[in-house]
Amino acid sequence: MSKQGAGPERVFITGASSGLGAALAAEYAAQGATLGLLARRSAMLDQLIATLPNPERHRAYAVDVRDHAAIAAAAQAFMAHAGGIDVVIANAGISVGTLTEFAEDIPVFEAVIATNVVATAATFAPFIPAMKAQRTPARLVGIGSVAGIRGLPGAEAYSASKAAVISYCESLRLELKPYGIRVVTLCPGYIDTPMTQVNPYPMPFLMAPARFAAKAARTIAAGSSYKVIPWQMGVVAKLLRMLPNPLYDLAFAKAPHKPRKAAP
Ligand SMILES: NC(=O)c1ccc[n+]([C@@H]2O[C@H](COP(=O)([O-])OP(=O)(O)OC[C@H]3O[C@@H](n4cnc5c(N)ncnc54)[C@H](OP(=O)(O)O)[C@@H]3O)[C@@H](O)[C@H]2O)c1
Repeated sequence: MSKQGAGPERVFITGASSGLGAALAAEYAAQGATLGLLARRSAMLDQLIATLPNPERHRAYAVDVRDHAAIAAAAQAFMAHAGGIDVVIANAGISVGTLTEFAEDIPVFEAVIATNVVATAATFAPFIPAMKAQRTPARLVGIGSVAGIRGLPGAEAYSASKAAVISYCESLRLELKPYGIRVVTLCPGYIDTPMTQVNPYPMPFLMAPARFAAKAARTIAAGSSYKVIPWQMGVVAKLLRMLPNPLYDLAFAKAPHKPRKAAP
C-alpha cells in the first residue's frame, strides 16, 4: 500500500491515453501510486502525466498492444523502475461495428479480438512470474463489458471479444488464486468516453469516467472477482443473462447498431 495507505504503490495501465485508462491513471496518481502508462499515442500519455501528481515518478510506454514483445519489454522496464508491481489493468480496447456478411469486416474482427482479448493475456503474462515471486497481494484487472453478457446485433466482434475476456479472466482467477493473485473482471456499462461518444443511440445510466475510475479502484482494492459499474447496468446485465432466447430476440430485434468502419 502507498504511504498514504489509500491505494497500491505500483500500477500499470494499458489504454491510458484516453477515456477509462486516463481516468484510472488520475485516480491512482491521486492515491499516491507510481504509474506505468501504455498506449500508442505517446504525446497524449506525456500530456496526461504532466497533469498528474508526482509526474517524475510515472513512466509512459508508446506501444501497440498487438506487439506482445513490446508489452513484455515495457512491463520489465516498469517493474525495474517501480521495484515491483501491485495492479495491472489491461484496459486497451476498440469497439467497432462488424457484420459477418461483409468480407472486409473479417480483418476488423481480427483486430478487435487481437486488441481486446489476446492483448489482455499478453499484458498480464510478463507480470505473473514477478507477482508469484514477490508474495505481496497483487491484482490483474480485465475489462469486459455488459456487451459481453449477450451478443448484441451489429457488434458481433465486440460482443464476442468481451464475452471472451469475461471467461478468460474467470479461468485465470481460478488458476492464480493459490498464489494470492486476485483477478478482477470489471464490466463497464456506458461510460462517457471517445469510444461511446460516437454511438448514435441513447445510453442508459451514462457515467462520467472519473466516477467510474473511483468505483473501479475500490472494487480492485477489495479484490472482488467481478463487478458491473454502474450498478444499475449490473441489474440490466443480470436480467439479460436470465432472459430466454425468444424474449431476448424480441427485445433486441431492432436494437441500434454501432457504425462499421475499416480495421483500426
Ligand atoms: N466507454 C464505455 O462505455 C465502455 C463500456 C464497456 C467497456 N469499455 C472498455 O473499456 C476500455 C477503455 O475504453 P474507453 O471507453 O476508455 O475507450 P477510448 O477512450 O477509445 O480509449 C481506448 C484506449 O485504448 C487504447 N488502445 C486501443 N487500441 C490500442 C492498441 N492497439 N495498442 C495500445 N493501446 C490501444 C487507446 O490508446 P491509443 O489509441 O493511444 O493506442 C486508448 O487509450 C476498452 O476495453 C473498452 O472496450 C468501455
